[in-house]
Amino acid sequence: MKKVMLISIFAIFTACSKTADPIKISKLDKNEYEPEKWKVNYPYEYEGWEKTKDPTPAGKSYYKKGWDTDGKIYDKLSEFPFMSVIYKGWGFGIEYNEPRGHYHMLKDVLDVDSSRRKAGGVCLTCKTPYAQELSQKHGIDYFSKPFDEVHSWIPKNHRELGVACISCHNPEDASLRILNQFTLSKALKKINFDISKATHQDMRSLVCGQCHVSYIIKKDKDMKSVDVFFPWDSSKYGNITIENIIKTIKKDPSHLEWTQAVTGFKMGFIRHPEFELFTNQSTHFKAGLSCADCHMPYVRAGQYKISDHRVMSPLKNGLRACIQCHNQGEDWLRNRVKFTQDRVASLLIKSGNATAKLAKIFERINKEKGVKKIDEKAYLKAKEYYEEAFYRVVFIGAENSMGFHNPQEALRVLSDAYAFALNGEAVLRELSAKAGINIPEKIDLELNKYLSNRGEKKLNFDKSVEIKDPFCKTDF
Ligand code: HEC
Ligand code: HEC
Ligand code: HEC
Ligand code: HEC
Repeated sequence: MKKVMLISIFAIFTACSKTADPIKISKLDKNEYEPEKWKVNYPYEYEGWEKTKDPTPAGKSYYKKGWDTDGKIYDKLSEFPFMSVIYKGWGFGIEYNEPRGHYHMLKDVLDVDSSRRKAGGVCLTCKTPYAQELSQKHGIDYFSKPFDEVHSWIPKNHRELGVACISCHNPEDASLRILNQFTLSKALKKINFDISKATHQDMRSLVCGQCHVSYIIKKDKDMKSVDVFFPWDSSKYGNITIENIIKTIKKDPSHLEWTQAVTGFKMGFIRHPEFELFTNQSTHFKAGLSCADCHMPYVRAGQYKISDHRVMSPLKNGLRACIQCHNQGEDWLRNRVKFTQDRVASLLIKSGNATAKLAKIFERINKEKGVKKIDEKAYLKAKEYYEEAFYRVVFIGAENSMGFHNPQEALRVLSDAYAFALNGEAVLRELSAKAGINIPEKIDLELNKYLSNRGEKKLNFDKSVEIKDPFCKTDF
């Protein structure tokens, strides 16, 4: 069915280009960053792209309300208070917001608490179409120089321009292409995926995979950023696993980007791994779908059928994309999405709380470390369990679909996280009993301390946006 649709669309396009006024088609420079210039040739795609600046109806999504029409700020730390405990120690523990429309991406980095830009110019990598050019021109300075300095190397009129036509398209014929060679192309090479053999469907996901992936900011011994790369070592295309991501992070101390305040451990981090989770054998990936199939459905524009460039949550635009393949109707589909997301959210909250609790037990034990005799081997074992739990919770917590992109895998990862956290707690309790350290049965996460007054921005915790476990009301 998909094929038939693509063929008929192709037919429409060939027909259009024959009837279009040739004077209106202007030749674009091979480095044409300015979307206004592209607009002349492709007004409908431009219109959709530009609309990503408008708010979207928050009420239509259960878990991805974003920053939208109701005027509230939905931030992850308020939604999932356990995150404020385990992210304490750097920018993510101060301000960590839900995503919103593409148009705002660079502006939002400029507006976020300044601690989030501390890593330097490297932060611009998935926020500006100039990242590839800057990294080529300036080499290591692009990564390590202060954010504001690198930002000032972008031409003045584009210092707030986010993802642009050139990020995903060849100016010559608007075919899909990867602009960020220095990140995605390198990562694909590492997993032996030959881009020249990428299918059209691959490309419809890979353009998104330039940014909707996790990455590591490599540090030198003075904690200056020296590189950015995707932690895909030992993985394969279509099977990038959390296990391999964790192994890559733990492989080298230069991959540990920050020190966690509660435990004192040096840790790595995982960001928005939509591409990894979706392509890891999900039902829809195996059925041949790409990101664009659900986030850029075909729409009618004038006499044409085009890809909707107003990229957003499918729940917020009537699940139009889904209806092209599923005939059960909007309500049924909406309920199926909620069915999955409720289950993932429930396990995310439980495993996240268990991980935060483990961090607080470490905090108590660390205070007594010099005083009491502690079984070092058991301590290190518990630390390993803790790290395994932490990265898995961060992985699903940072992934933006609340599990929908790959429900079975999301639940598998979280149940492992939960088991690791509980094992870690058991080891620490035994260790504490032997060392004569009193660990109370109920651990206070001190959420108010971490949530209100988070740092520079002094954000206040809005309790009304907290996401509660949809099934289990018991406080573990
Ligand atoms: C250049 C990097 C980049 C590329 C390429 C990119 N995105 Fe994004 N995307 C982002 C960033 C950054 C945000 C968050 C923006 C913000 O909150 O200011 C985002 C937000 C989103 C959102 C949330 C929008 C909302 O209304 O809340 C969706 C959905 C999305 N992207 C899907 C996609 C899809 C699908 C593709 C590929 C067709 C894609 N993105 C390509 C960087 C990118
Ligand atoms: C995040 C990536 C991304 C960005 C940014 C983007 N596009 Fe696209 N665009 C796509 C994808 C994916 C398709 C579907 C292509 C396909 O299946 O061949 C597409 C399709 C198109 C097409 C082919 C006709 C159609 O609508 O399917 C044109 C023309 C186009 N885009 C123009 C633009 C213009 C102009 C801009 C900037 C205003 C832009 N695009 C920005 C990803 C992007
Ligand atoms: C089968 C359909 C489908 C496919 C394929 C798909 N998504 Fe999604 N995506 C969804 C749904 C449903 C949600 C949940 C939206 C919600 O809860 O509001 C979502 C959520 C998102 C979000 C968060 C949106 C928001 O408003 O905050 C982003 C970003 C995103 N997807 C990016 C991607 C990327 C990148 C790919 C490809 C690697 C992809 N999606 C593939 C259906 C899909
Ligand atoms: C291009 C076609 C296509 C689109 C678009 C599409 N799906 Fe699917 N969907 C499929 C196929 C094929 C399957 C697998 C069916 C099967 O194996 O029985 C599937 C399976 C599902 C399932 C069952 C999954 C499971 O693991 O049990 C749900 C729920 C679902 N889709 C919801 C959605 C939603 C919601 C959207 C839009 C955000 C969407 N789909 C978009 C083709 C599509």
